Amino acid sequence: MTLKERDKKHLWHPLTQHKIHPEALPIVKAKGAILFGEDGKEYIDGIASWYTAMFGHCNDFILNKVQEQMQQLDQIVFAGFTHEPAIRLSEELIKILPDNQQKIFFSDNGSTANEVGIKMALQYHFNKGEKRNTIIAFEDGFHGDTFGAMSASGLSVYNGPFEDFFIDVKRIATPNSENIDSVLEQLQQIIKNNKVAAFIYEPLVQGANAMHMFEAKYLDQILRICKEHSVITIADEVMTGFGKTGSYFASDHLQEKPDIISMSKALTAGFVPMAVTSCTQNIYNAFLDDSVGKAFFHAHTYSANPIACSASLAAIELLKTEEIQNNIQRVIASHKNFNDKIKNHPKIKTTRQKGVIYALDLNIKMDRYGKKRYEIFNHFINKGVFLRPLGNTVYIQAPYAVTQEQLEKIYDSIIDLLDFV
Ligand SMILES: Cc1ncc(COP(=O)(O)O)c(C=O)c1O
Repeated sequence: MTLKERDKKHLWHPLTQHKIHPEALPIVKAKGAILFGEDGKEYIDGIASWYTAMFGHCNDFILNKVQEQMQQLDQIVFAGFTHEPAIRLSEELIKILPDNQQKIFFSDNGSTANEVGIKMALQYHFNKGEKRNTIIAFEDGFHGDTFGAMSASGLSVYNGPFEDFFIDVKRIATPNSENIDSVLEQLQQIIKNNKVAAFIYEPLVQGANAMHMFEAKYLDQILRICKEHSVITIADEVMTGFGKTGSYFASDHLQEKPDIISMSKALTAGFVPMAVTSCTQNIYNAFLDDSVGKAFFHAHTYSANPIACSASLAAIELLKTEEIQNNIQRVIASHKNFNDKIKNHPKIKTTRQKGVIYALDLNIKMDRYGKKRYEIFNHFINKGVFLRPLGNTVYIQAPYAVTQEQLEKIYDSIIDLLDFV
């Protein structure tokens, strides 16, 4: 039996309606930007496997570091124990995070990183004797699939059956030149009429919302108002972190730095799952007390797993190299050239770019997970390219390690698509 056939027997895939889409594409190996299929075909990973494998799959440098760590220390309880990979990672993260970040808390994935951030913010106020129970979030943001993170997510396509069980979230639109005054007014009203604990946001690029982008200067205005009212600001950098926007973090493009930052995905370069929630000294201090009850009672078994920390340390080392920084600049320039070539095509409605993230909207109406979307997905697969359209948006977020030839192949597959849609 093939992997494809065996898969169907016991496996239940995420974001999949198995009645309509019973088949998954088996991948047997990956190297650099290439995925090798069971079918003998090669696919360029145009989205770095959900923006994780930014240094290329099975990167030799990271692989060696992880192997060394595996022989030294595999796992240890992080409550009451500590270890060098976690200590060193905290030091390295603090060096590249915005200046106000001082403390590092570990969890397992992007959703839990946000869950931790939300809980930290709620308990921060609680510990200070204030009961604040409302969170503000952007419309159509995405923060993950656990309950707190899901509550903050505005994309109803994921939320439908659970909405009655959510924590209290009020939404504001993402800002632009036309709506900024009304967004700020609405924000002030929400703060006035509720006990707002925190504002959670994806800085500058909303990933799952079809790579929707907005300007730093407007987000700064929002953050300023939050800070004036002691509303804790949580930057969800799960997607944007570690170089995607052209700087280490999207928050680097802003004047106002967040109180809390959640990160995952490229943190461990696609090797193993791990997440970090960082925060300021001020947040941390609110949990210090003679009473145990004021401590942060949140833990995951694999918190700060040494192997995951070693992958992350290697990834950060690579991120800082001239080679990777040059690659990032090459990809940014290359997307710009491609955009100049195609932006006026009649089948394209709009295009946008932030750092290595490039997106275009097709000039057609489409459901997010409808038939047409699958036809487009299959078009790319047939061309040997893995791109995962979000509704009528096609986006690229290839590994920094992608070669120019591979990038051109991705662009060609998009140009071909414009003839076919
Ligand atoms: C901005 C953002 N936050 C949170 C998440 C959730 O991360 P995870 O899938 O690791 O739980 C994602 C996943 O795509 C994301 O893009």
